[in-house]
Amino acid sequence: MTDFFNTLIDRRGTHSSKWDAMQRLFDVSPDDGLAMWTADSCYPTAPCVIEAVRHAADHGIFGYSLEHDAYKSAVQWWMKERHGWDIQTDWVLTSQGLGNAIALCLDIWSDPGDPIVIFTPVYHEFAIKIEKSGRRVIACPLVRQGDRYELDLEDAQARLTGHEKMLIWCSPQNPSGRVWTPDELRAVADFAARNDLLLVSDEIHHDLVFPGTTFVPTDVAAPDHRNRMVTLTAASKTFNIAGQRTGNMIIPDDELRGAMQRRLASLDYKPSALGVAMITAAYTAEGAAWVDAQIEHLAANAALFDDGINAIPGVHSLPLESTYLAWVDFAGTGMSPEEVATRIREDAKIAVSPGPSFGSGGETFHRFNLAAPRSIIDEAVRRMQAAFADLQ
Ligand SMILES: Cc1ncc(COP(=O)(O)O)c(C=O)c1O
Repeated sequence: MTDFFNTLIDRRGTHSSKWDAMQRLFDVSPDDGLAMWTADSCYPTAPCVIEAVRHAADHGIFGYSLEHDAYKSAVQWWMKERHGWDIQTDWVLTSQGLGNAIALCLDIWSDPGDPIVIFTPVYHEFAIKIEKSGRRVIACPLVRQGDRYELDLEDAQARLTGHEKMLIWCSPQNPSGRVWTPDELRAVADFAARNDLLLVSDEIHHDLVFPGTTFVPTDVAAPDHRNRMVTLTAASKTFNIAGQRTGNMIIPDDELRGAMQRRLASLDYKPSALGVAMITAAYTAEGAAWVDAQIEHLAANAALFDDGINAIPGVHSLPLESTYLAWVDFAGTGMSPEEVATRIREDAKIAVSPGPSFGSGGETFHRFNLAAPRSIIDEAVRRMQAAFADLQ
């Protein structure tokens, strides 16, 4: 399957936000630049998913469709098979992706002005969604210990005002790729319980975990706290189908789930039939085998990238436990963050996600998306080494 992930496909001019918005957002031209920012992949989805779309297209009718059990059973099967998580099919609700799910949670379970807790650095949209909805961010810094981020729950406790309603938690963690241990997950769930917080656990990156590391769902680690938990999952990163805008909100608690169901009904939300069909096809043994092959490809990409980037004096790519998002620290170069950003943009001509957007702790970092054919990673390393050649 190696060739599958290594075939270069030109995405320019296809309305791909990764490629067609890079000029506007990062001032890097798609003509000779590399898009390594937003979290989608530059290889096609699994053949079983493509086949499901082909089947639907051959049928040719895309009318109103009913919510069906096959979808929820596929989600149930996947969670058990891939994550050892027993869920009931009626716990599964869908949303228009996980950004939408986070916005819905904020809307239902907090009020304007409420403080909402996050641990930084973290996926920048958490803070953006909180602020856009008129809530306030309480940012609790993770502590960097060598190459790992750790929790400091004492420090976090001291930052709380007593009025917080919700903790938005990222597991595995974007941007560092950290996979939390069951003990850490229990500690986070206890922290949420002590402070009477709804625990929204965003587990969108749970499938792309590298060999030697095991991902555990927060619900599995802390089942006693499931009465305050909403777990968000999706096939979007795993199968590169984010454009289909379909995510899951897995809510075991009847009261919480009822509140979400009522809100979805009031908004006249209905899932996308094609999105649902694609995920039903993805969450199968065939889809699982494809994910395993993808992980092998990503692990090799990460090894190649880390070797090349870490050869630049003062630049350090943190070893990844999960995700295809390399988190690279430029602190050791002694350059200002602006100078680093300019060299990446103007000399290397690479569009990357700037570290400061992930909140405190991200100041000296940039995030590089490695979900691409190997030749792109090779080229990115070559360009980065040339852009920082004076450090050699
Ligand atoms: C942690 C995390 N949550 C949510 C999202 C966005 O999900 P969606 O595209 O389903 O809105 C991303 C995308 O990068 C992410 O990394």
